[in-house]
Amino acid sequence: MSQAPATAILLEDYAPTPYVTKETFLDFELQSEYTLVHSRLTIVRNEKSNSDSNTLILNGSELELLSVSIDGKVLTDSDYVLNSETLSINVDKDAFVLECTTRIYPDKNTALEGLYISGGMYCTQCEAEGFRRITYFQDRPDVLSVFTTRINADVEQYPVALSNGNLVSQTIENGRVIAEWHDPFPKPSYLFALVAGDLVCQEDAFITQSGRNIALKMYVEQENEHKCEHALESLKRSMKWDEEVYGREYDLDLFMIVAVDHFNMGAMENKGLNIFNSSCVLATPETATDEAFARIEGIVGHEYFHNWSGNRVTCRDWFQLSLKEGFTVFRDAEFSADMGSRAVKRLEDVSFLRQHQFPEDAGPMAHAVRPSSYMEISNFYTVTIYEKGSEVVRMLRTMLGEQLFRKGSDLYFDTFDGQAATTDDFVWAMEQVSGQDLTQFKRWHSQAGTPRLSISREFNESEKTLTISAKQHTPPSADHSPKEPFVIPVQLGLIDDQGRALQEITYDASYSSDNQVWLVTQEEQSITFSNLETMPVVSLLRDFSAPVLLMDDLSDQERVLLIGSDSNGFNRWEQCQIIYKKMILQGVTDSVDDALFSALESALKQLLVDKKVENAVKAELLKLPAEVELLQLSPKVDILAVAASRKRLMSRLAAALSATLTSLYQTLPVTEVYRFDSESVGIRKLKNELLELLILSDGDQYIERASAQFTQANNMTDQLAALRLLVKYGSEQVYQDALDRFLDQWESDAQVLEQWFRVQMVRTDDKALDRVSALLNHRLFEYQNPNKVRAVIGAFAMGNIEGFHAEDGSGYHFLGMQVETLDALNPQIAARLVGPLVKWQSYDDARGQKMKAVLTQLAGKELSKDLYEVVNKSLV
Ligand code: PHE
Ligand code: ZN
Repeated sequence: MSQAPATAILLEDYAPTPYVTKETFLDFELQSEYTLVHSRLTIVRNEKSNSDSNTLILNGSELELLSVSIDGKVLTDSDYVLNSETLSINVDKDAFVLECTTRIYPDKNTALEGLYISGGMYCTQCEAEGFRRITYFQDRPDVLSVFTTRINADVEQYPVALSNGNLVSQTIENGRVIAEWHDPFPKPSYLFALVAGDLVCQEDAFITQSGRNIALKMYVEQENEHKCEHALESLKRSMKWDEEVYGREYDLDLFMIVAVDHFNMGAMENKGLNIFNSSCVLATPETATDEAFARIEGIVGHEYFHNWSGNRVTCRDWFQLSLKEGFTVFRDAEFSADMGSRAVKRLEDVSFLRQHQFPEDAGPMAHAVRPSSYMEISNFYTVTIYEKGSEVVRMLRTMLGEQLFRKGSDLYFDTFDGQAATTDDFVWAMEQVSGQDLTQFKRWHSQAGTPRLSISREFNESEKTLTISAKQHTPPSADHSPKEPFVIPVQLGLIDDQGRALQEITYDASYSSDNQVWLVTQEEQSITFSNLETMPVVSLLRDFSAPVLLMDDLSDQERVLLIGSDSNGFNRWEQCQIIYKKMILQGVTDSVDDALFSALESALKQLLVDKKVENAVKAELLKLPAEVELLQLSPKVDILAVAASRKRLMSRLAAALSATLTSLYQTLPVTEVYRFDSESVGIRKLKNELLELLILSDGDQYIERASAQFTQANNMTDQLAALRLLVKYGSEQVYQDALDRFLDQWESDAQVLEQWFRVQMVRTDDKALDRVSALLNHRLFEYQNPNKVRAVIGAFAMGNIEGFHAEDGSGYHFLGMQVETLDALNPQIAARLVGPLVKWQSYDDARGQKMKAVLTQLAGKELSKDLYEVVNKSLV
């Protein structure tokens, strides 16, 4: 483990390298104890650099250097400087060939970066800086090279040997397979991939819009052969969608997907050879929930879309990470919206943003979408880079409108194809096509923090005008980014007291009637609408048109009216959420306002029987906001009191709506044959949501329903939903019994087993910590498998509020110990897992101090660079 250096990498220090590697030839000899990597690099001076330095700096870490030569001349250790991170060589040539041999130990690699072994197969993970654990290289995204890769491995154990691009040749000699791959597209090293194993292949094909035939191959372990169909179908849908919506066609003749069990993240977009965490790609109706089906579709799309947004146009440096990730998340979100329910996708994404990104942006790890400094780049694969980054792209589309946005994206891809670009380049393209000056807009890239947007209204009866005033304020952030006013596109609509949209209104230039957007650019700003007979109700921030914390002056009655009649589906749900939050907070300090409760109750009763409202939306309307969202409205509120109040409200709602819920439950159609389409998904989602509420209102009878559903279900959505309810609400006997039966049934299925671990964390009695500790000793638990670690430790710390935040601090202490253990195995996972402690300052003081104490203890230990950065920033 590397000793933590206290140095930060700064955006302002960016400079092109004096040399670049144009061609890369790699030869991997996979031996049983180790791997030998021979490289031959064609290196020339960099035209983009104005440095006259003669020093070639190659990155390398945890490598054994066996030999290095330049133009055939072997170097001795006086010819170079070698330390634990770099190999520096003075070269007085403008073009040369560097050859190098390193020895690495994939079977000892538990960090899962570079070349490692997962369940008997070799695979790589090179983003962001994993390639340097394979060989000495200019391991940075602005060095693009054409790769040729030869793999030499035992043919019995590793008959399948894959790398990027096209297969050039494959032979078998002396019991060894020798496969050579060539990728004609120049790429940075982080997109390199290699896989070798005993894998089976599911094949399919796609014909592009220009008529080219692309072979699609999905490689998995034998036992997973039947779990490929959904991913392959999702892939074909993605390929078609990117052609239709962005005009982007696939470029190689072959596209491969590989599933591996040990993976730090969801998936990786390596050129032509995407590698997936098996839980994010393998599915059958019997083993995967609707949620998993949707996630897989989204991730397959995401990785595929990277072929253009990330690979053909890549990032200049890691500060630009959101250039590929924010844009690609936006692309996959729109893809998912087009494939399923648009309204549900949007509100799910907004909930996710508020539950995860807003807290990050208010905490000690807050950073801008384009950060200006980092210590360990792995720590910056964050919800801010991904999800807020996507919101920033979405705002651009909202401001430009669909057509100009598409023009801008075409210009971006055409201009920067084959290059390493910046977020400024992306904005430049949008400026070119729209003529808009987006200078101020770029603050969304450079400034961290969630703006608070306060809106107030004034109606002037004699003038028949409505003036809407906005004030924006962004609190200071941990990264000390400046806070100048943001450009906030507020999508809005005016409706009358019957819920009808008002048409004949006039407005000033800050309002665009085409896309109904009011651009708020100042700290304080107002807009006046005229020709209004009566005071209209305003529907603000439709579709969550900007990632802000909105405080408006709507009355409860107005909100209820919007819930019933806003034409914007998102805002109907949003107003409902606002009322839930208000009532949860009322319940923390006092009691819930009965009039408000009844008003919401009748609005919900109407919506639940409204045939025009999608089932999935009905299910979402019945879900209460997550506890952390209340911390944003009422800082330092006692989280356990919030959880208790939330539970009481849910029970009260269940009781009040009982009759409506029962008849809805009884009349929902049955989905006999499993289909993954938005209608069937909606039915299952609503049915299972209703079942929970019915358990709350009517108890035993519905616990039995859940038991029956658990036994009879023909798909994992229904089976797992039932199991979850039995675990959450069943007697000790009932839930234990269900868990045992589930394990019996599914023990040999890695994806379902993960769910078995995870589901146990939803029970919120006072034995949660005992249960999680017992699971860590379970014969099927493995610390080396990130999915299992996340399913047990992660699910406990993030999903079990009562257990994790127990008054005695035992949950915090437990997490601290686990993080320390994991840091020795897998620093990236340790640094992620510590997340729930890092936000200690948002909790009430007593709790916060207990969390902080655990962090302080950790800070005294010898930590990986990853964990060191997070822990120390959280204590500043
Ligand atoms: N680039 C991957 C994605 O977003 C995520 C990833 C990052 C995977 C780092 C592994 C390591 O699709
Ligand atoms: Zn991505």
